[in-house]
Amino acid sequence: MNRVLVIGGCGFIGSHIVDSLLARGCRVRVLDMKNEVFRAPLSEVDYVTGSFGSEAVLRQALQGVDAVVHTASTTVPSTSNLDPVADIQGNLIATVRLLKEMRQAGVRKMVFLSSGGTVYGIPETEIVEETHPLAPISSYGIVKVAVEHYLHMERQLHGLDYVVLRAANPYGPRQGYNGVQGIIGNFLWKIAHGEQIEIWGDGSIVRDFIYVQDLAELCAIAVQMPIQGCFNVGSGKGSSVNEIVEAIRVLTKRTIKPVYRPGRSFDVPRIVLDISRIKAVGWAPRTELIDGMRQSWDWINQHRAIDDIA
Ligand SMILES: NC(=O)c1ccc[n+]([C@@H]2O[C@H](COP(=O)([O-])OP(=O)(O)OC[C@H]3O[C@@H](n4cnc5c(N)ncnc54)[C@H](O)[C@@H]3O)[C@@H](O)[C@H]2O)c1
Repeated sequence: MNRVLVIGGCGFIGSHIVDSLLARGCRVRVLDMKNEVFRAPLSEVDYVTGSFGSEAVLRQALQGVDAVVHTASTTVPSTSNLDPVADIQGNLIATVRLLKEMRQAGVRKMVFLSSGGTVYGIPETEIVEETHPLAPISSYGIVKVAVEHYLHMERQLHGLDYVVLRAANPYGPRQGYNGVQGIIGNFLWKIAHGEQIEIWGDGSIVRDFIYVQDLAELCAIAVQMPIQGCFNVGSGKGSSVNEIVEAIRVLTKRTIKPVYRPGRSFDVPRIVLDISRIKAVGWAPRTELIDGMRQSWDWINQHRAIDDIA
């Protein structure tokens, strides 16, 4: 599993997956519609520019690869509910087509970035195991679940090896300023620019944060390890939005006066992932939240001058 195609490899998480694969000695091709925002193309990576929704582009990108890491998404939870039809077309139909093209090209391994924060819907338990009912309340989550089912079907009928990583809330370097996903990156960028931060709701919602390089390392390991099925990937610990703001206040030594906006209906009140299953195969997050936030803050301060941020 040495030649790997990373779809969405110029994105926040994808760019770190590329780094982890290269560090493990893989040959990497990236399929993305855009270049990376924060760094120039890497000389050791073969880039294909285009949409994974195009059969012709997929055929070109899949040539000579052993495995695919699928990390592209055309939506986030908030935008997906504005146009579920576009979400289904851009992500579900395109991924089902990708599975067909992979079969025809003889590529039999996929690592898929699913979403631990949305596939379960409103959790029935404090800590959510992979066996928790799947009841998403956003189109984004519904499409992730549907892709997971298609992966299962592809394995049963056509022998695909796959790993689904249900990622919690990743944060870290290269998380964009205008990112509609990711409060840590969004808040730190705003504070670095002297802007006010906005909180949806009263700040009591709880999330599970995972440092992006820990997640990326797992994606690279999952390409090469003989593991199968769905795994939660988080820290296994919950932090409220208000706790994050307090940690940022201490870290940045700035005065922070958040603006509180009405809560959003698709935000579940609490989600913390049980990570026992992935720990049992030998992976555990390495980066403590405060250390990862400090690295994010340092990185942002080195990149403050960049205006055109995705
Ligand atoms: N960021 C999060 O909070 C989070 C949490 C859980 C899961 N995920 C999942 O992880 C994956 C990566 O997320 P991210 O935060 O890095 O997103 P991102 O937007 O930073 O990166 C996605 C990349 O995919 C590319 N892309 C989008 N549509 C494409 C298309 N049709 N063809 C080719 N490339 C396309 C984009 O140009 C971008 O470079 C997504 O599948 C997302 O659903 C993200």
